[in-house]
Parts: sequence; C-alpha cells; structure tokens
Amino acid sequence: MKPETATVVELPGAAVYQQEFTIRYDYPVYFTERVFDRDNPVFEHALARREAGKRHRFAVFLDANVAASWPALAHEIAAYAQARADTLELVGHPEIVPAGEQVKNDFALVSRLQQRLGELAIDRHSYVVAVGGGALLDMVGYVASTTHRGVRHVRVPTTVLAQNDSGVGVRNGINAFGKKNFLGCFAPPRAVLNDLAFLRTLHPRDRISGIAEAVKVALIRDAVFFDWLEANVEALREFAPEPTARMIRRCAELHMRQIAHGGDPFESGSGRPLDYGHWSAHKLEALTAHELRHGEAVAIGVTLDTRYSVQVGMLPAGAEDRVYRLFKRLGFHLWHPAMDSRGDRGRRLILDGIEEFREHLGGDLTVTMLRGIGRGEEVYSLDRDQIVQAMAWLRRKETGQ
Ligand SMILES: NC(=O)c1ccc[n+]([C@@H]2O[C@H](COP(=O)([O-])OP(=O)(O)OC[C@H]3O[C@@H](n4cnc5c(N)ncnc54)[C@H](O)[C@@H]3O)[C@@H](O)[C@H]2O)c1
Ligand SMILES: [Zn+2]
Repeated sequence: MKPETATVVELPGAAVYQQEFTIRYDYPVYFTERVFDRDNPVFEHALARREAGKRHRFAVFLDANVAASWPALAHEIAAYAQARADTLELVGHPEIVPAGEQVKNDFALVSRLQQRLGELAIDRHSYVVAVGGGALLDMVGYVASTTHRGVRHVRVPTTVLAQNDSGVGVRNGINAFGKKNFLGCFAPPRAVLNDLAFLRTLHPRDRISGIAEAVKVALIRDAVFFDWLEANVEALREFAPEPTARMIRRCAELHMRQIAHGGDPFESGSGRPLDYGHWSAHKLEALTAHELRHGEAVAIGVTLDTRYSVQVGMLPAGAEDRVYRLFKRLGFHLWHPAMDSRGDRGRRLILDGIEEFREHLGGDLTVTMLRGIGRGEEVYSLDRDQIVQAMAWLRRKETGQ
C-alpha cells in the first residue's frame, strides 16, 4: 500500500517511504525607538500579531551592561506589560544576565537559564525575550531553542552589530571546546525589535566595531552602499543618528535578503556567502581570547581578504587601499600581534582558521573573495603564501615593520 503523502522509492530488498515536508518561516524586523515606552505598540504587536485575543506569557533576559546603562528598564518592561495586561503577561521579573562574549563560553550559565525557564513554566507557546548585545542574543537564542525542543524567542538587539547583522538572522549558539559557535542551532526568532535609542549608551568601541559588518556586506553586495559609507565616514565615526540609522537599516536589509532569498537559510551547503573576511576573524577572536570584538576582528579579516583578492588578480589594485582607508578613518586598528602567533615548528596559527572554517560549514572549502567592489565571489582554495604576503602588507602599514 502506498502511503498518501509520501513517494515510494524503488530499492532492491527494501521498502522506502520517502518523507518530505517544508516549513515556512516568517518574522518581522521592526525599527523603532523606545520600544518599552507605554505608548509604543511594537512590542505588543510582535508577540500578539498572530494570536489576537490571547494573553501572551513572556520571560525576559537582560544584558547586564544594558541594565546598568538603563536602570529603569526592568521596571519599564514590567509597567508595559501591566498597561497591556489583556494581551501580555510578564512571567517573573526581567532577569539580569552577565553579558559580552564570556556568556558564550559559560555552560553553567546556559543550564541555569534553561532551568529558570522550567521554574517559570515557560512553554512552547510562551516567549523568551532577550535584550542585549549579539553575544547575549546568540546565547539566549540557544537556551530558548533547546528548551522544550524550541521555545519562541524574540530579540531586542542593543548593539550596532546585533541590529545590523547578528540579531536579524537565524543562527544561535555558544562557544565550546575552544571553538567559536561550536554548539548551536538554526532557529528563526519570532520577531526582532531594533531600538535605536539603546545605541546611545554603547561604549564607543562597540559603536564603531559593528560598522565593520556594514563595510563587509557593502563590499560583497552593494557598491553604492560602499560609496555611501565612504562619503559619510565622518558622520558615522561621530555616530550621527540619521546616517547611523540608515547604515543599520541597509546592512540589516542585505543580511535579511540573503536569508530569505539566498536559497540556503540554514546553511546546508558549503558556503556562507556573507561571511567575507570571517575565516581569519573567527580564528583571531579565539587567538586573542576574545580580547578583540567580533567587529574588530572582521575589519582585519576583511582588509586582509581584500588585499588577497588583489594579489591573486581577482580584484583591480587600489581597492585594498580604499578599504584600508575607510576602516582607518572609522577608527579601527587593523593589526593584532596574535596574527603572528606560531604553533609547533613555527606553524602560523591563523592559517588553522581556514580548515576550522571549512569544518564548521562542512563539505568543501568555500570562501568569499572580491571580484569588484560590491561583488563577492566564492573560491574553493586559498593560497597560503599569498595570505602570508597579505598579512605582511597589513603589518607594514600598521606597524611600519
Ligand atoms: N548569530 C549570528 O549570525 C552572528 C553574526 C555575527 C556575529 N555574531 C556574534 O555576535 C557577538 C558580538 O556581538 P556584539 O558586537 O553585539 O558584542 P557583545 O554582545 O559582546 O556586546 C558588546 C558589549 O556591549 C555591551 N552592551 C550591549 N548593548 C549595550 C548598550 N545598549 N549600552 C551599553 N552597553 C551595551 C555588552 O554587554 C557587551 O559588554 C559575537 O559573539 C559574534 O560571534 C553572531
Ligand atoms: Zn560577523
């Protein structure tokens, strides 16, 4: 008998029922200010838009540095829920969680939060709301997605990087066994709420660092955006609100387009087309024990791979100087001594990043390089000598040696 919904594949000695289904995902990314002001409808809309007439339970985890910079925030969230008690129920009090990259290295914290969701009786129809930087969002997304095999999560990114890149995507995870994002899952959020006001209290280092992802995505996808970044570099460096908002939106848009229309949102192929400059960036973060912020490492990785693209003849000379100058004018340091660190018999540790990048994705090595400004192109091997030469170029520019 043939099952109604499956195709039977013919194979000698076996009956094979081919299982097949597709799941549709959709989630809104809101751009707003002061998301927990009582008269701002965005948060309520994000939770209730699909199931009106129901009271939505939600728990909140707050980035400790956000909570310190916005001391009234936990209270404002509670007051917001109270003012909309017909549709919202805050479960427990917003919980302050340590923040920064270290939270992605902390198994004990992950299980404490999973346990906490149990104590709060958060079920799959409830929400976990994470308010914070990219590191906290990655970790809380992982906590939510692994509890009850997947509790709904909502992200409120509070850094430039999380608003323009990490927070709008579908990846969650933590670092483990010395490897970045070693444990994790693809689980789209239910909604992303980008609130520009939060950015005002960011440390200048974190304001600048997130712009690296905008330069990255402009280089591989959008030459006009790259020109615009160059033309507005002073205003962006000063963090002028209007250009900053515009930069974040365009960058988020390009990342969202890749997820929705790139054909591989859960990265089952061998490439991560938007991760330009990331093979070395991820390695550098680990080699510096996360002393470098993700965006700072990305700026170095992007400059290096742009120089490499020129050296191997893919990209006309001069582009690497434009990229270098743009990062310098934004205020980036583009060298770290860890880039020179060596392992056994003088092996350059940064080059291990190539194989680690491949292994994380699976399949054949696939790295994006540049064919032109605004035009990324995948390559399937890297010339290690050329990388070393590109590093020497960058070291000379930055240190004079
Ligand atoms: N999931 C993805 O697709 C993806 C993509 C890119 C990067 N990432 C990850 O994102 C992480 C980096 O994120 P990040 O750059 O946001 O760093 P982060 O989360 O470490 O935040 C930087 C610092 O700013 C603090 N902070 C956050 N918001 C603040 C605010 N409004 N005011 C004051 N302080 C604030 C944080 O507590 C932290 O100390 C890395 O772990 C990286 O791997 C993930
Ligand atoms: Zn990145």
